Amino acid sequence: MPVTKNISFSYLEYESITDLESEDQELITAAREVAVNAYAPYSRFRVGAALRLESGMIVRGSNVENSAFPSGICAERTAVSWAVSNYPDDHLLAIAINAVADDGITADCISPCGNCRQVIAEEEIRTGRQIRIILSGKSKIQIIESISLLLPLQFCRNNLRVNPL
Ligand code: THU
Repeated sequence: MPVTKNISFSYLEYESITDLESEDQELITAAREVAVNAYAPYSRFRVGAALRLESGMIVRGSNVENSAFPSGICAERTAVSWAVSNYPDDHLLAIAINAVADDGITADCISPCGNCRQVIAEEEIRTGRQIRIILSGKSKIQIIESISLLLPLQFCRNNLRVNPL
């Protein structure tokens, strides 16, 4: 007989950015600022991601689209690639994500795509530090304590049979 298993998770929801700790407020502000720099002529959907590293440094990225659509890259992976390339020994602790449409910051929070969840999860496993996900829309902020909650039953490097690290 099969056994039914259940996965659920809790997250925090806030109504105002002012309810957050100042470091998280700063990260959201950085993500909102950098979204404006996105190169998104095809979707007109500009996304910003701001990472907080353990050193306190903030690394920002936006989505960069391409006329060959699959060659475009999301804001989250732009930022994570920059951080890992330039600060390989610093640890990613939090990421704020938001989007700006033609009429301003989106009403709803936007959540990272599957590809980006996988990339952020790799960092969590590589460094052994939980990565907080901070999503913000016009009048709502959602905080998820670990990327693993957004990617249950994830494939990770421990699943690789060849030379697991
Ligand atoms: N996008 C991101 O940058 N991050 C996400 O989490 C979702 C989607 C970008 C990709 C594309 O340039 C545009 O938003 C529309 O999908």
